[in-house]
Amino acid sequence: MDFETLVRERRSIRGYKPDPVPKDVIQEIIEIAKGAPSSMNTQPWFFHVITGEPLERIRQGNTERMLAGAEAQREIPVHGSYEGIHRQRQIEVAVQLFEAMGIARDDKERRQDWVMRGFRQFDAPVSIVMTYDKSLEPATISHFDLGAVTYGLVLAAWTRGLGTVINGQGIMQSAVVREHAKIPEWQTIMTCIAMGYPNDEFSANAVKSKRTPNDDIVTFTGFDGD
Ligand SMILES: Cc1cc2nc3c(=O)[nH]c(=O)nc-3n(C[C@H](O)[C@H](O)[C@H](O)COP(=O)(O)O)c2cc1C
Repeated sequence: MDFETLVRERRSIRGYKPDPVPKDVIQEIIEIAKGAPSSMNTQPWFFHVITGEPLERIRQGNTERMLAGAEAQREIPVHGSYEGIHRQRQIEVAVQLFEAMGIARDDKERRQDWVMRGFRQFDAPVSIVMTYDKSLEPATISHFDLGAVTYGLVLAAWTRGLGTVINGQGIMQSAVVREHAKIPEWQTIMTCIAMGYPNDEFSANAVKSKRTPNDDIVTFTGFDGD
């Protein structure tokens, strides 16, 4: 698959087959992702690959705490609710996903169920928790580096028939993740990537989210004699 086709075809996957993902395939994908650039080649990233029982315990702990109304517990500063154009874009993709799933606007139960699926990392057979070395805090540049390596990872996964969804929901209760994935204290949890073979029957998997036209986000300076 050429690069352009890969980028155009990739989309987040939120319904998975239960089939396990071979460890050597995950090793290969990480090997490719590591080709990402990083500030001064610091390569601040760590990949905690989790499956089976420990992943079940993470899903359970994360879901129980969220259902009990616990505050989200992230290890990186988060912005909170989006507003304006960012909120509009958030709603746009949510509408696409709910339409695909046939979830009506006022169907509180199914909407809640969808949110819970997110806290379970969409029942994917594998989760990769992305962390970095805490000594780098304040780590804005490391966040950039982790974004780069994570995108490489999801693209490499796609070329092997694997779907992913990068998700903050799965690590909302970071202490639970830290405990069951045995993440050492000297690392900061950034996000996680749910991964597995896509269930083609799951209609939300077909959703192609939209992108803002270049005119709204690109400026050219010095090109046309201006
Ligand atoms: C940092 C980050 C966090 C995300 N967290 C979630 C999440 O918690 N739940 C979810 O369903 N999708 C999550 N996503 C996936 C985005 O919703 C998705 O990438 C976006 O809507 C664009 O769709 P696409 O990936 O299909 O192109 C996250 C993506 C990123 C990059």
